[in-house]
Amino acid sequence: MGECRRGKGQQKTEGHLAQKSCELVADGGRRVCTRRIAGMKMLIKKTNREKEKLDTRSKSISRPWVDEDLRDGTDHHLEEEEVDEEWQGLDENVAHVPFVAERYSEAEMIKRSRSFYELLNKRRSVRFLSDEPVPREVIDNVIRTAGTSPSGAHTEPWTFVVVQDPDLKHKIREIVEEEEEINYKKRMGDRWVNDLKRLRTNWIKEYLDTAPYLILIFKQVYGRLPNGKKKTHYYNEISVSIACGMLLAALQNAGLYTVTTTPLNCGPQLRALLQRPANEKLLLLLPVGYPKKDATVPALTRKPLEDIMVVM
Ligand SMILES: Cc1cc2nc3c(=O)[nH]c(=O)nc-3n(C[C@H](O)[C@H](O)[C@H](O)COP(=O)(O)O)c2cc1C
Repeated sequence: MGECRRGKGQQKTEGHLAQKSCELVADGGRRVCTRRIAGMKMLIKKTNREKEKLDTRSKSISRPWVDEDLRDGTDHHLEEEEVDEEWQGLDENVAHVPFVAERYSEAEMIKRSRSFYELLNKRRSVRFLSDEPVPREVIDNVIRTAGTSPSGAHTEPWTFVVVQDPDLKHKIREIVEEEEEINYKKRMGDRWVNDLKRLRTNWIKEYLDTAPYLILIFKQVYGRLPNGKKKTHYYNEISVSIACGMLLAALQNAGLYTVTTTPLNCGPQLRALLQRPANEKLLLLLPVGYPKKDATVPALTRKPLEDIMVVM
């Protein structure tokens, strides 16, 4: 097929240096240098070897509990050597005891389920909270309730930080408002900002000063074993989100109000301010209190049962 031009004194690549000239062969209508083909084959082999190495590595640190749909970048990836594969600190010999269940009549079940629904259907996100004090014991109880939540492998991967100190609340407000202003003006984009217009939300968060309590919920993306190694917190985000749902229901049951907030880009600053360790990531911020006398809420409606339930 001829001689490769690189072989005729052109600048040679590493593969070409070994021989004076290379042969050209036909490859699907193209003329390709034999030396180059060999080089490409070597490169493919090398890439495959690297891929295999990576596959083996990712197999040994595979996290089957992380649903593909739930990979969102906030999921913490434990390095292989950091995890204690032998012992996760769980007591294998935990006793299994008889379970004593509450049992209601069918009429009572219908009554209870109906009234619980009616109670929770009155829950609204309230963005105008008064500074009227709230008994601390109620806060303790609602957080106890959240702590009854199920969690992946019973890891209980949550921390509820309750802030009542006015100065600390104000520092939180400063951080959140500064970031939220950038969120609204730059990060969120027109569609998101437009979608929020009907809720009349913006970056001014007066409730962060006025609410008697701010509850900041952190998910512990991993724990610590007594030997200092990292302990896997399976499904930590789902577990903490369920606990937050229970907390919202407990607040509603106690006659307290909040607005579920996810302050975008504030997590690291708030974590530092509240001196939380590196394994904790902010999930939600809930200001808690009573609504102001002149509080308003958007007149939203909820989807009816037939739109949210499929029975088969
Ligand atoms: C995950 C999540 C994030 C939310 N983030 C915010 C937020 O950052 N700021 C806010 O004012 N409301 C926030 N909300 C509240 C929603 O806007 C509110 O739940 C929705 O409009 C329905 O109103 P309702 O809670 O009164 O039923 C959030 C709600 C959820 C579930």
